[in-house]
Amino acid sequence: VNALRSASAQSAASTALRAMSTGSNDMKVAVLGGAGGIGQPLSMLMKISHPPAHVSEVAVYDLAHAKGVAADLSHIDTPSSCHGYVGNEELGAALTGSKIVIIPAGVPRKPGMTRDDLFNTNASIVKSLAEACAKYCPEACIAIISNPVNSTVPIAAEALKKAGVYDPRKLFGVTTLDVVRARTFIGQNKGFDPQSINVPVIGGHAGGTILPLLSRVEPSCSFSDEDRDALTDRIQNGGTEVVQAKAGAGSATLSMAWAGAQFAFSLIRALKGEKGIVECAMVESDVTECQYFSTPIELGVNGIERNLGLGELSDYEKHKLDTEVIPELKASIEKGINSWMAQV
Ligand code: NAD
Ligand code: LMR
Repeated sequence: VNALRSASAQSAASTALRAMSTGSNDMKVAVLGGAGGIGQPLSMLMKISHPPAHVSEVAVYDLAHAKGVAADLSHIDTPSSCHGYVGNEELGAALTGSKIVIIPAGVPRKPGMTRDDLFNTNASIVKSLAEACAKYCPEACIAIISNPVNSTVPIAAEALKKAGVYDPRKLFGVTTLDVVRARTFIGQNKGFDPQSINVPVIGGHAGGTILPLLSRVEPSCSFSDEDRDALTDRIQNGGTEVVQAKAGAGSATLSMAWAGAQFAFSLIRALKGEKGIVECAMVESDVTECQYFSTPIELGVNGIERNLGLGELSDYEKHKLDTEVIPELKASIEKGINSWMAQV
């Protein structure tokens, strides 16, 4: 009897495994810049994903080394397949069939630099990769990690518009690391498990454009003015804290991979039909005068289901929104769009 049970369990497991790695659970995710500091651990998190956010195929694309990364990952004993693609001539194969494209391609900061200092190099990388997405996977959801996110998202949108495939429900600037940091630092301040904390972080992804809504932390709690200021400042400058600690060896990679994976897993679950999934992300928006803005977004089978908007803000948050977030973010968005206009 035990032998029979075990055989039938094995057969059920192999059927489930086949279903996971074939069409019935088809979820190809491409990571562009997949051999980089973020790309490698992010690709690994995609490879070890499991239901309800299972990735059936991971495509690791980079200008070099992607095949080695993929060969390495492909030995991990999980049901996903993993392939590496190198160079422009293999980009089409990497993208074809992808439901989600995650883009951490580009250069990171060194101490003393702002994210905007990366603009000249990363703008053209994101532009060309968005053009390739338009060509090879026009219906994919695209998640941009490459900095400066405040400008690279508008650039990707313009590239997709030019190709006639722009769907505002499917383009996201990844700001999840700001939420991850907010949870961590609030957890330390309050003695809460960071995973139990819900906190919206709105605006953009650079310094003063990052606005954590500490008045809306769940479980509900309050902060002294001193703690509120210190937490806001640390969340806004978390990226710089890591850049300085790495002392020239780049910026956040591991925490970013974790954050990018959390965002991707939420998106996968929503694309597969799960309801009520909410993540903050920088998307095309009409909730402020900024054309792209991060707020809590309800995700669905087509990407963005509903923008949940700003919600209620404290006077402190309203003041920061009006005097710091919106002016700086608007300028970065315009810079992205203008650079696009200058190139076409
Ligand atoms: P990295 O240098 O370690 O890796 C970047 C990878 O991109 C490299 O492997 C490089 O070969 C590849 N690349 C460059 N041009 C490419 C192209 N045209 N096509 C495909 N791949 C290309 O850098 P990293 O630490 O992984 O950071 C990548 C980017 O992510 C940086 O711009 C960084 O500022 C940004 N970042 C964003 C966040 C965020 O919260 N959104 C967090 C951390 C880092
Ligand atoms: C971060 O927030 O860690 C990233 O945007 C990388 C950086 O340059 O700070």
